[in-house]
Formats: sequence, C-alpha cells, structure tokens
Amino acid sequence: MSYAVSLPESGIFDAWRDAARRAISHRIAPEHIVWNGPGGLFDAAPLPDVAGSHAARVPKAFVELARSVIWHSVPDRLALLYRALWRLDSCEGEPLSPVDPLGRTLMLMQKSVRRDIHKMHAFVRFREVSAAGPRRRFAAWFEPSHNTLEPGSTFFADRFADMDWMIVTPRSTARFVDGALAFGPGGSKPELPDDATEELWAAYFTHIFNPARIKLNAMRSEMPKKYWSNLPETRLIPQMLADAEARVKRMHDAGVSAPRAGASIVSDRYRASLPQPAVHIATLEVAREAALQCRRCGLCEAATQTVWGEGARDASLMIVGEQPGDREDLEGRPFTGPAGQVLRELIAAAGVDAKALWLTNAVKHFKFSPRGKKRLHRNPDRGEIAHCRWWLGLELALVKPRITLALGASAAFALTGDSRPMAERRGGVETGLHGGPVLVSWHPSYILRLRDPGESKAARDDLAKDLETALLKSRVGE
Ligand code: URA
Repeated sequence: MSYAVSLPESGIFDAWRDAARRAISHRIAPEHIVWNGPGGLFDAAPLPDVAGSHAARVPKAFVELARSVIWHSVPDRLALLYRALWRLDSCEGEPLSPVDPLGRTLMLMQKSVRRDIHKMHAFVRFREVSAAGPRRRFAAWFEPSHNTLEPGSTFFADRFADMDWMIVTPRSTARFVDGALAFGPGGSKPELPDDATEELWAAYFTHIFNPARIKLNAMRSEMPKKYWSNLPETRLIPQMLADAEARVKRMHDAGVSAPRAGASIVSDRYRASLPQPAVHIATLEVAREAALQCRRCGLCEAATQTVWGEGARDASLMIVGEQPGDREDLEGRPFTGPAGQVLRELIAAAGVDAKALWLTNAVKHFKFSPRGKKRLHRNPDRGEIAHCRWWLGLELALVKPRITLALGASAAFALTGDSRPMAERRGGVETGLHGGPVLVSWHPSYILRLRDPGESKAARDDLAKDLETALLKSRVGE
C-alpha cells in the first residue's frame, strides 16, 4: 500500500511533523510514502487520520535538524527526513552522525539553510513605498536559495515592528501589517522606487572599501554575486575595483604618516564638524526648533520626538546623560524617568535648583527595541553619537558652561572622544573636544541596575560627590 502526503508551503514544519508522527505510529515504511508528489497518484491513499499504536522515539537533536532541513529547496527533503526518523526509531545506524551518509547529507542541508537565512538578514534591502495610514510602508525583493522566507522573517518582524513591510520572493511573500506576519504566494520582481537609503548604503560601502585589502574570493563568498542586483551599494564595485590599483599607489606614494592617538583623530574630525553657530543658529530656541526636525541618523524614525536640553541658558554647569529613556521620549523633557529622578534627587540634595543647570543628553532620540508592549533601551552606537555631536556642540557653544558633568560612558565618549572604561575615569576631570573641562561620573541608571545595595549606595555616593565637585568648579571665580 502506498500513501501520498501533500503539505502546505506555509507552516510546513508542523504539518510534516504531524504527518510523520501518524505515519510512524502505524509503522509505515519510508518507501511506502510519497511526500508532496504530483497530484492524483495512482493507487496512493491518504495517511490514516488517527495515530496508530506505536510510539516513536524522537531525539531533540533530530527535531532541531528537521526544523532547518525542512526549508531546503531539494524536493526530497521531506522523504529524507522521514527516512532518518524511521532509522532513528528502528535503531538502524546513526542517522544523526556526520559519518553516516544520510546524517551527513542532512547536516550539510541544515548548514546551507542557516547560511541562506543569514544572507537574507544581511542582504534584504527595503525601499519605502507610499502609505495611506500612519505606519510607514516598505517593500523588498529577494531571491533566497532555499525556501527560507518563513524562518527568516521573524528577524524583520522583531526589528521593524513599528512599520508595515513586505518581502516578495519567487516562491512566497511575507507581509507584516499592523504587527501581524502572514505568508502568501510568491511573485515576480516588483518595480520599487529608489529611495534615499540607497545613497546611504552606497556612501557607507565606499567608506569601508579598502583598496589595499581586496580579497575577491572572500568578497564573493560573503556577498555572492546573485545578490548584487538588489544591493544598491554593489553597483559601485566595478568602478572601485578599477580604481583600486591607482588608489593603493597613491597611498604608497604618500608614505607613512606619524601614528596619531585614536582620540586625537576623533577630536580633529569633531572640530571639523563643529557647527558654525553664529552663522544661522544663534540661540538655543532656534537650535531646539532645528533639532526637532533632525534626521541626521535613523533614530528619529522610531522615537516619538527629539528631547532637547533644558535649564538656564547661561548655566555654568551642564550635565550630559546618554539619551532620553522611555518616559523622556513621551514627555519630551530630559531626565524625567527613574534614572532622572535619581539625578534630580541628588541635585536637590546638593541645595541646587535643577533649573539653574543645563540638563541634556549626548543623543537626542530614544533608541530602543520593541518587545511586546515594552520598549527596551539600547545603547546608541558611535555613529549615532557622532551625528548627535552636532547638537551637543551647539548647546556647548551657546550655553558656554564652565564645566560639564558627563554621566556614563556614552556621554563621556561624546564629550571627549575617549572610550576608555568608566571604572578608570570616574571622578576625573578630562579635557572635552570643545576644549572645556569634563568631569566623568556614573550614569544614574547604572546605580539603579546594581543589585547589591552596598554597591548601589557606593555608586550613588560617588555621583553625589562628583556633582558637588562639578558644582564647586562651576562657581570658581564667581
Ligand atoms: N537617561 C539619560 O541619560 N537621559 C535622560 O534624559 C533619561 C535617562
């Protein structure tokens, strides 16, 4: 007796597991099942609806393997998996071992599927399309080697939860609308508009391209040519390769320049990028208005609003945190959430009105990852900090504090260009990239994160002491 099993594209793993369990519970041998064969198979019956009496042994490792292999593009993957399951259940050899031919085949298939998913995560490029509602909409075309759209899409659902998007592949299409992910039939390459992100990719790629380190084989294996047509940055490759030899020669002819400390390179770049405040942004009000429109980095996309600094326009002490948190993002004011409360308590305990200081952040937008209904804080990266230095530079130039208190590593890096660990620096006064003194201290959220009450109190005392020192220095010569 032969059986024919036909499984859907979407949700195929659960469907296959259910069918395989029923088949093995009736001890139906692999050679009697045709998986996803042509319709109307002569003489083939559907599998029995109910389970038989035999309870199969299924090791966890096999389930893991099957979860990947099922997305492989070879048509007989379902049959291979059932054969392995049959052999495991009948204790015939070691179908999970790489020395077993079937085991080895399945492992290579698993590896290939994982690699394909990884490539999808790296090489899908969304383009913005028009949206009727409040959510932004994006679309991408991608050609995976296997049927990996379904297992690869949760990655995008986690990261782009606040947008609607669609990925079209030749076999299937993933649609993420209002937070729900669904799969449908595939399509052909849609006409997608160019958008500004293409320029960004191209600029980034030109930047990281080092003509002296071209390894064509490694490059092709990391970014196989089949993906190039969908990657805006790759259209630059032929020209960059053509120019590479001349660029290497120019680098060589220029000779070796004296090594410079990383921090001074950063500070040169920073000075070069400092705003020319007197020209068109001459007041904190104009600066704030301009910052509300900021699109220098991607953080503005997900954040509710720019959180600009607040306080006295001529404050002699400026306090710089990392970035607004969840609460600050919603309220539009710095230091109003739990960490802000700690800071404000310490300021009050020092006998100072917070309104007499300038409170601000290194980065003016909240960076987070959505997790269900929560928005989990993420540290800004160096690029985001560098983009936001434009605004911090303006605040420093316009408020002209005598001293700045940097809370935590991001603020210290933004102000000094130095990324040494906090433990080495806390309590010290360093010279900021703007030329003024910067006292480095703990961030109040670090105090809140410390589990040990003794350690938390010690860190709070440190911050209180650093605040006192900064206040004292800010009053010197008054
Ligand atoms: N953490 C910061 O660094 N800044 C704020 O405004 C709030 C929390």
